[in-house]
Amino acid sequence: MDQRSVKIHTAADYIAKRIEGRKPVAGIVLGSGLGKLADNIEDKIIIPYKDIPEFPQSTAVGHKGNFICGTLGGKTVLAMQGRFHYYEGYSMDLVTISIRVMKLLGVEYLFVSNAAGACNPTYKVGDLVIIMDHISLLPNPLIGPNLDEFGPRFLDMTCAYDLELIEKAERIAFELELKVQKGVYFGSTGPTYETPAEVRFYHRAGADLVGMSTIPEVIVARHCGMRVFGMSVATNLSNIINEETNINDGEDVVRQANLAADRMCRIFGRLIEGIEA
Ligand code: HPA
Repeated sequence: MDQRSVKIHTAADYIAKRIEGRKPVAGIVLGSGLGKLADNIEDKIIIPYKDIPEFPQSTAVGHKGNFICGTLGGKTVLAMQGRFHYYEGYSMDLVTISIRVMKLLGVEYLFVSNAAGACNPTYKVGDLVIIMDHISLLPNPLIGPNLDEFGPRFLDMTCAYDLELIEKAERIAFELELKVQKGVYFGSTGPTYETPAEVRFYHRAGADLVGMSTIPEVIVARHCGMRVFGMSVATNLSNIINEETNINDGEDVVRQANLAADRMCRIFGRLIEGIEA
C-alpha cells in the first residue's frame, strides 16, 4: 500500500474509534480566528491533533489544533479547529491529510473558511466573501502518483465551488440580513504577505482576495468527490502602494476574523442544516 494511504487510514481508524460510531456528513475547516464556530457545535467530542497517529501539529497563530465531532444544524459534523499550511513546512500530503481522513469517515460536504486580505478595492475590512473560484500559486497537492482509491488522475475544476451551495448561502445571507460579497481567492505559499506590486498583479489577474491556505484542501476534497463551499473573511485590505504605514500583521488578522466569526457561523449553521444527507 502507498505510504500516504497507510497514514491516512491509520489516522482515520483512530478518529473512528474516538467518535464512537458517529457518521459525520459535513467537514468544516475553521481558519485563522474562526475557531469560535466550534462553540455552536453541540454534544462535542474533542480530539487534539497531537493524539492522532501520523497527524501534523498546527503551529499557525489563531489555530488551536483539534478535531471536533458533534451536531450543528441537526447534522453530524467533523470540524477542524485549525488547519495546516504549506508555509509551516509540511508536505502537501500532510497539509491535506485531514480531508482524505474525513472522506474515509463518510464526509460528503466540505465547508472551508479562511482569513484573507482584500485586493478588491471595493471590499471593506470585516466583509464576508463567498468564494466563487480560485487562482493558485501553491504547489498542486495531487502531484505524485495518483491515489486511485480517492479519485482520478486528472481532475476537472470547472465548478470546484458548488453552485447550489453558493446560491443557498446567498439566500441565507439575504434572509439573515447579512452582507456578503462574492469573489475569487488567490492562494500563494506565504508566509510573507504580498508586496504592493504583487497585489496589483493578482487583482489585475482576476483576484478579489489573497491568502495562504484553502486551495489545497479544496482540490483534494474535489478529487475525492466532496461538494465544497468556501467563505473568507476580509481581515485587511491588501496594500497597493509602498507606504510604511501600510503594514500587515498576523494579530490584526486574527482579531478581525474573530469579529466576523459570529456572522459566518450563522451562515454555515443554516447551510449545513439544509444539506441533504
Ligand atoms: N495576505 C495573505 N494572507 C492573508 C492576508 C493577506 O493580506 N490577510 C489574511 N491572510
